[in-house]
Amino acid sequence: MMIRVNHISKSFGDYKAVDSISFDVNSGDYVAIIGPSGSGKTTLLSLLTGLISPTDGEILYDDRKLSSMSRSQLAGLRAWDLGMIFQFSELVPSLTVEENILLPALFTKKFSNTEYQSKCDFLIDRLAMHDIRHTLPRQLSGGQLQKTAIARSLINDPLLLVADEPSGDLDPDNSNLVQMLLMEYNRMGLTILLVTHDMNLAFDAKTIYEMKAGSFSQVIK
Ligand SMILES: Nc1ncnc2c1ncn2[C@@H]1O[C@H](COP(=O)(O)OP(=O)(O)OP(=O)(O)O)[C@@H](O)[C@H]1O
Ligand SMILES: [Mg+2]
Repeated sequence: MMIRVNHISKSFGDYKAVDSISFDVNSGDYVAIIGPSGSGKTTLLSLLTGLISPTDGEILYDDRKLSSMSRSQLAGLRAWDLGMIFQFSELVPSLTVEENILLPALFTKKFSNTEYQSKCDFLIDRLAMHDIRHTLPRQLSGGQLQKTAIARSLINDPLLLVADEPSGDLDPDNSNLVQMLLMEYNRMGLTILLVTHDMNLAFDAKTIYEMKAGSFSQVIK
């Protein structure tokens, strides 16, 4: 899957949160976006995943325009091909960690139940979450919630992972686990686009962009 972002802008009233950004993401790429608070990073990810519509410009998934997809096509894209990690992870409060991780399986049935269970076990293992697999979200720390959201975003083996500060609430050890897991998935072909303040995660990326006041520039490593 290839994504083409073509002069995309988003204004809130007179305020241009995203200002004519263009870039491509090719299959297997690892792209990191850094930049100060308020520079438009989350807004850009919301545009890319079709959660909000641009004021100007176009986003293409392969040759399909995001803006011309129907609601069900968009839902299908999100369920089958995209993994998303939001800045403030939302888990279902009545479900345990393991049940939250397996939740996307209910909607897609991309794999058999046995396959889902073994993927879930793998993710729980890699993220060192054995002790919390039967715990409810309200009993979890911010970092544990975040690791659950990360595992949930990968359970369906997406083509593209879009992540908004996936290690923002993690201590260095846990951040390392996430970093190694993402690299492992990237080596297996997962395309990654993430926003991060974590320089370890950013430096793994093949391409780094810095966002400043809605504009983009590539950082030379
Ligand atoms: N729905 C909205 N309505 C009005 N203004 C908004 C809306 N969403 C975002 N903004 C504004 O757009 C700007 C960019 O916000 P955004 O959340 O994209 O920043 P960010 O780079 O993700 O920041 P952070 O690093 O703090 O998460 C901010 O000034 C914000 O107030
Ligand atoms: Mg943000």
